[in-house]
Amino acid sequence: MRAQDTIWTEKYRPQSFDEIRGQEEIIPRVRAFVEAKNMPHLLFVGPAGVGKTTLALVVAKTLFGEHYRENTLELNASDERGIDVVRNTIKDFARTRSMSDAPFKIIYLDEADALTKEAQQALRRTMENYTSSCRFILSCNFSSKIIDPIQSRCAVFKFKPLPKEEILTIVEKIATQENLTLDTATKEALFDVSRGDVRRLENIMQSVAVTNSTLTEKAVYEMASVAKPQEIKEVLALAHQGNFIKARDTLLKTQLDYGMSGLDVVKQIQAAIWDLDIPEQKKLVLVSACGEAEFRMIEGSDEFVQLQALLAHFMSKH
Ligand SMILES: Nc1ncnc2c1ncn2[C@@H]1O[C@H](COP(=O)(O)OP(=O)(O)O)[C@@H](O)[C@H]1O
Ligand SMILES: [Mg+2]
Repeated sequence: MRAQDTIWTEKYRPQSFDEIRGQEEIIPRVRAFVEAKNMPHLLFVGPAGVGKTTLALVVAKTLFGEHYRENTLELNASDERGIDVVRNTIKDFARTRSMSDAPFKIIYLDEADALTKEAQQALRRTMENYTSSCRFILSCNFSSKIIDPIQSRCAVFKFKPLPKEEILTIVEKIATQENLTLDTATKEALFDVSRGDVRRLENIMQSVAVTNSTLTEKAVYEMASVAKPQEIKEVLALAHQGNFIKARDTLLKTQLDYGMSGLDVVKQIQAAIWDLDIPEQKKLVLVSACGEAEFRMIEGSDEFVQLQALLAHFMSKH
């Protein structure tokens, strides 16, 4: 066992603009606002683990230096406090004067899309009331859930999942710092399971590294509860060749080996379909069969029965 007393997502959180990877269209623009000490409200849109909170904190640290804590209010909209609590907290915070020479303080509201439309209207009024002393940075997964009057008051930035080369750079950096050994296949596996989400990447790396400083492809997929794409492809090939029983048994073994749920398996099968050497038309039929199996599982139907039915669709009979 290795001594690990810090969470890697925090240990490796970038502390400056230069350390944030990817998001090239966003960083220079936000940085320019900060350097001019003149910034509109910001809306950060995008999936999890791609640098939204990190960038908001870098903005605050760059503006306020050692006084960043007093000048920054971090709130999470999905905490079960009503908008009234949010408003009162903001009011108290906005009333006290900024301790630094920055002309405004920062209010970071995470998961703003968790607020109801009514709460967002109240938030919009609050933003207007405190515009002279505070700048809001809102973050959300989907901009379609944010009311137009808020969007039009913010500079909107769309964050993207990190591309492969950026993920691999982060993998290398952590591997060096933590003295980890890993081969190319394992790096590929880490990229595969991360899906461009750096938080997920770092959590999986840390979890795997707890037991062994040599990371393996298998350990990565096990930790992520995802079968190796190659194993799923083998199962599909077996079914396609008409070897149904072997396909079924291999699938069951894969599922148990990796501790996957039936839904995990369907997702993996669906992802693997696009790489199969079969006519496009047949791929569409299979993808739709995956959708059907997923729906039935969610409705409570027996997972193994559904997986077998799904595999039957792969038997070659186009
Ligand atoms: N663009 C990035 N460059 C480098 N590390 C990142 C990046 N995005 C996320 N991370 C890592 O993932 C962790 C979580 O990122 P965070 O910014 O909190 O994600 P979110 O977009 O969900 O707010 C960070 O602490 C950092 O370790
Ligand atoms: Mg966040």
